Amino acid sequence: MNFELTEQQLAIKETARKFAEEELLPGVIERDEASEFPVDLYHKAGELGLIGLPYPKEVGGQGLGYMEYALAVEEVSKVDASFGISYSVSTSLYGGSVWNSAADDETKKKFMEEVCKGQVHGSFGLTEPNAGSDAGGCITTAVKDGDEYVINGLKCFNTNGPLARYSAVYALVEPEKKAKGLACFIVDIKNTPGVRVGKIENKMGIRAAQVSELIFEDCRVPAANKITADGDGFKLAMQTLDCGRIGVAAQGLGIAEGAFERAVAYMKEREQFGKPIATNQYLQFKMADLAVKIEAAKYVLYKAAMDHDTGKPFSQSAAKAKYICTNTAMEVTEWAVQFMGGNGYMREYHVERMMRDAKITQIYEGTNQIQQLIVGGALFR
Ligand code: CAA
Repeated sequence: MNFELTEQQLAIKETARKFAEEELLPGVIERDEASEFPVDLYHKAGELGLIGLPYPKEVGGQGLGYMEYALAVEEVSKVDASFGISYSVSTSLYGGSVWNSAADDETKKKFMEEVCKGQVHGSFGLTEPNAGSDAGGCITTAVKDGDEYVINGLKCFNTNGPLARYSAVYALVEPEKKAKGLACFIVDIKNTPGVRVGKIENKMGIRAAQVSELIFEDCRVPAANKITADGDGFKLAMQTLDCGRIGVAAQGLGIAEGAFERAVAYMKEREQFGKPIATNQYLQFKMADLAVKIEAAKYVLYKAAMDHDTGKPFSQSAAKAKYICTNTAMEVTEWAVQFMGGNGYMREYHVERMMRDAKITQIYEGTNQIQQLIVGGALFR
């Protein structure tokens, strides 16, 4: 296996790093406090070609792969994990729903181009109040009426919900078949009567990312917006979540690396008992332990991205990557706060935000217990 990144991958990493340092870092604390998403910076990331990386140029993307995309999510998440998840959901979960669907080329272009260029956001409407880990338990319905479908129901925890122009909405076309009766619809949230943004969530972390309910009340969408055959919605959601988990893994890895770098810098500077705290061997041993875990998580993630890009099955490697990268994010950020002491607990030192941001990465796009179920289930099949 070749662990070297190509020149192009290094260039993308550098573009994302520079964007994160120069554009995202100023104001990241204030945006966290105010729960404000930097829409203008999102457009800028699109202009830099960072958003649609893994999709072909014909649909507005950059014609590259998940490896390049993971590198970009990792870099921006070192600085601003809220930006990282907004980007990841738009690209993997919304973009993946359309790209992996049965839609024809023209429909894919229509619903992906502006999203890939970062001009508008996409969201992913699967979860409902009683259908979280049990994603097949959705009760939102879509009833055919002439050339339209009429959608009724409520989708919750929609990342990008209040911002998104488009949402990939999973609804039952044959309710009696339960999960096997799901289909996926693209809803133009901003231009379709009958859909509205409900409660906007007030969150512990990723506070600048916008997360809300989407409420559908006799919402009519053209039949052409159904992008799967009847009954194929659950499989599309699962395939798309496999892609999304690579994005969340990259977000987790970025958070871990960002907190680790800040802790190292602090520990070299901070003096107690007449010497930098970095010279304390106990702290060095713990930092060494974390450095090994970050390195291990990184290669599990890159393997998942490579599996995706080389056309191999990647459900398992994506679940493993999501599991190890996000658990590492939580562990590293907790230690970063601990080793930075009272300062680590304060907003201006960034790591307390990273610790709050890390927690949700162990929960969304399939809790880490669901990832264990996916990996454990395959071991004994
Ligand atoms: N790819 C393709 N098909 C898949 C698949 C995959 N990865 N996983 C399952 N399937 C197929 C199965 O082959 C099976 O097909 P058949 O019926 O034809 O045999 C069908 O789907 C049902 O599979 P299961 O019986 O395994 O399904 P299940 O109901 O037991 O659920 C699960 C499995 C893994 C627990 C799944 O429900 C799951 O992933 N749950 C977590 C949901 C989740 O991640 N939600 C996050 C939502 S997004 C979010 O977090 C918000 C945000 O904006 C960030």
